[in-house]
Amino acid sequence: MTIGVPREVHAGERRVAATPDSVRDLIKLGYQVVVETGAGHEASFSDEDYCAAGASIGDAASLWASVDVVIKVRPPQVHPTLGVEEAALLKKNATLIGFVWPAQQTTLLERLSQRCATVLAMDCVPRISRAQKLDALSSMANMAGYRAVIEAAHAFGRPFAGQITAAGKIPPARVLIIGAGVAGLAAIGAARSLGAVVRAFDTRPVVRQQIESLGAEFLTVEIEEDGSGSGGYAKEMSPAFIEAEMRLFAEQAREVDIIITTALIPGKPAPRLLDTPTIELMRAGSVVVDLAAEQGGNCELTVPGESVRHKGVTIVGYTDLPSRMAAQASQLYATNIRHLLTELTPGKDGQLVVNMADEMIRGATVLHQGAVTWPPPPLTVAVPQQQAAVAAPVEAGPTEPASRTGTTLIALALAAIALLGLGAVAPPAFMAHFTVFVLAIFVGYQVVWNVTAALHTPLMSVTNAISGIIVVGALVQLGKPSLITAVIAGCAVLVATINIVGGFLVTQRMLKMFQRD
Ligand code: NAI
Repeated sequence: MTIGVPREVHAGERRVAATPDSVRDLIKLGYQVVVETGAGHEASFSDEDYCAAGASIGDAASLWASVDVVIKVRPPQVHPTLGVEEAALLKKNATLIGFVWPAQQTTLLERLSQRCATVLAMDCVPRISRAQKLDALSSMANMAGYRAVIEAAHAFGRPFAGQITAAGKIPPARVLIIGAGVAGLAAIGAARSLGAVVRAFDTRPVVRQQIESLGAEFLTVEIEEDGSGSGGYAKEMSPAFIEAEMRLFAEQAREVDIIITTALIPGKPAPRLLDTPTIELMRAGSVVVDLAAEQGGNCELTVPGESVRHKGVTIVGYTDLPSRMAAQASQLYATNIRHLLTELTPGKDGQLVVNMADEMIRGATVLHQGAVTWPPPPLTVAVPQQQAAVAAPVEAGPTEPASRTGTTLIALALAAIALLGLGAVAPPAFMAHFTVFVLAIFVGYQVVWNVTAALHTPLMSVTNAISGIIVVGALVQLGKPSLITAVIAGCAVLVATINIVGGFLVTQRMLKMFQRD
């Protein structure tokens, strides 16, 4: 099959859906790749780079008419030079992959349906762990968060880091980030690394730790309400909560120099959190960057796509922040697309297979051979571990097959007979030790087997403690005259020491994963 990479025609869009690197990977998957002339120009990738990677270069009309799979960034729209809808240019039964926003693009879906197209929307990839590598929303939000800080720094007339110079003291910039999702956290990281004092607010209390680990202060309101919705997203808050947070922002507006807002609720207009009186409380020269501008804006004065000034405060409402870092954003987006195509090409033979039984592919597919498949059925989310632990005993009894119960009973009966037999012949001292030994195995098995995966690290410290006791016991036995006892004790010391040292090594490695350089 042939994959086509058209030039993005949306005004001001500089990104491209494939880079020379990703083209190489797509060719390895068995595809041929055609790139439109100048498609990567704005993102610093020349036609020669694509040719060197193995792609061929074509013009828009022939590309759209010939390829089996089109990969894009923005949803199809009217082509400015060809004067027709891009959707109408798509070959019949072809596949389209890109941002689609099906909730807002119902007419586009109809047009694509008439072409019997299969459409995979990058914005609909479910946010499950397995799909993280395809999560273009996150990779773009990450870029947007970083760029928001750069735009704020550009509009702000002072350095971010505090300085003491011979000519006077410069205080550090104070930055407030509203909404600590992917973009908000990226903004906190960028602002902190430039030396600003950062505070952040979010309706989901679970992000507190993430905010604090990045060195920012987590702000709270007096009302207790958890904003966590399904799938990690936020839910709409009560009017009382919104009022309380707006009071908090009004207080903060007097103190901070920069406010970056990123608050969004999927499928809903952005919550209005900064009104005109709040903006008027900010000092002249302050900056607001509204990342929610495209969804209506978190700030009342935001003009989407523009930077405006109100009583000395600059309000930046750019809607193309990732596109302003086109080379890097394209690299990330192209990697997301390449991962999706790898999932869609199980045979690595250049043949696209849309497996609707795979919940990741199902979630992203909004149109399948012309039939609308959006919205997808709700994900079968894994039951949280704590709930599973409570639910398991209730369900386990009646559902356990009768044959399994019978086998267990026979095994137990045989074990009891063997124990009785042993008790008849073995000396009493042996039996006392043996009973402790059997009980220890039973209790140990029950403890380890029922520990959830999340608790394996603390479990390791417990086993380390047990291994320590074994070492002490074995050392006591080492001095005994019997050779067999000494050998067994020596083995016990060796094995328990391996367990202790190994435990420490594994723990160190795990801790390193969470350490920042
Ligand atoms: P988003 O762009 O939809 O929302 C941005 C932030 O705004 C969220 O943190 C939300 O809590 C906050 N917000 C909403 N209403 C607000 C209000 N009234 N006041 C203040 N803040 C408000 O979310 P994003 O960044 O796309 O992702 C949100 C979360 O989803 C992530 O933090 C993460 O927990 C989860 N996620 C999971 C992924 C996975 O498992 N694969 C991938 C990406 C995100």
